[in-house]
Amino acid sequence: MGKQRVLSGVQPTGNYHLGNYLGAIRNWVEGQSEYENYLFVADLHAITVPHDPTMLASDTYTLAALYLACGLDLNHSTIFVQSHVSAHSELTWLLNCITPLNWLEDMIQFKEKAVKQGENVSAGLLDYPVLMSSDILLYQADKVPVGEDQKQHLELTRDIAARLNHLFGKPDQPVLKLPDPLIRKEGARVMSLADGTRKMSKSDPSDLSRINLLDTPEQIQYKIKRCKTDPIRGLTFDDPERPECNNLLTLYMLLSGKSKEAVTAECQDMGWGQFKPLLTETTINALKPIQEKYQAIMDDRSYLESVLRDGREKAQAIANQTLAQVKAALGYSMPL
Ligand code: TYM
Repeated sequence: MGKQRVLSGVQPTGNYHLGNYLGAIRNWVEGQSEYENYLFVADLHAITVPHDPTMLASDTYTLAALYLACGLDLNHSTIFVQSHVSAHSELTWLLNCITPLNWLEDMIQFKEKAVKQGENVSAGLLDYPVLMSSDILLYQADKVPVGEDQKQHLELTRDIAARLNHLFGKPDQPVLKLPDPLIRKEGARVMSLADGTRKMSKSDPSDLSRINLLDTPEQIQYKIKRCKTDPIRGLTFDDPERPECNNLLTLYMLLSGKSKEAVTAECQDMGWGQFKPLLTETTINALKPIQEKYQAIMDDRSYLESVLRDGREKAQAIANQTLAQVKAALGYSMPL
């Protein structure tokens, strides 16, 4: 039996932060040799909210370079850009027509983002989870490693696949595979530095709320110095009254690679004045190799372009095959 297939992606909307890394990219890297991995830059998703056309292409390259810098290995992983594989858009249309509208209206992220957009909510924002379902289903993915915030979209993906199989497949021959989410407990929900009850987010207007993967040591130091804490001495995990404390200890644990027990023992008697410099140094050291590799990749644009060209070819081969199967199941005639 071949390896199971993994698929995941990040939107190229700038400000790639520790949540994206610890909730998603790090997990892709760590598990990659066990799976056949398809990891893409979700640039069609990036225009579901107002975007800057002068930044879209450069944000896309930056993100692809970060994937490599974080440790994706081309022997195990295919990296590509969503808009380079037109099957994503085409399957989205087909799936749109079998997805009940009220399934989309129930999506928490839509409701949250729609509130922020006011009158300007696009049909694309409502439809975003169908595009995401297409991304996943096109590759017949077994596993989708994401952070906690994407869980509802994965449930929807399974519902859409099951509906299509039920309506158009044969009982013993499903058209689409139902994927499983892969959500690691630790790091699945990295919280804002400004408020431990809100998740760290690319779209937070305050840059002080997040640590970006490309922040300088000075920025990291400043942000950790300014981040929200509490007046209690002694640091503990899992105290619901101390969300910032839990978040910062979790960041320290994940970035240092130490166990929860070891961090508990090390930090239980510390005050913030002692802990913050420790977290600062650990964060800077964890990001340094990624930043160095990122710079080297960005300096060799033709290499990056060749990676994305190869990725597109491999992705297209699988995506086009699934698209043809779905079209056949829906009754389309094939082009002559
Ligand atoms: P995006 O770009 O918002 O986030 C990319 C990944 O980072 C995770 N993440 C977090 N994890 C932990 N803590 C946080 N604070 C945090 N913030 C973000 C997200 O869960 C995600 O795994 N719709 C997706 C992109 C996408 C996709 C897909 C993912 C499009 N098609 C198909 C998987 C499969 C998104 O907007 O992620």
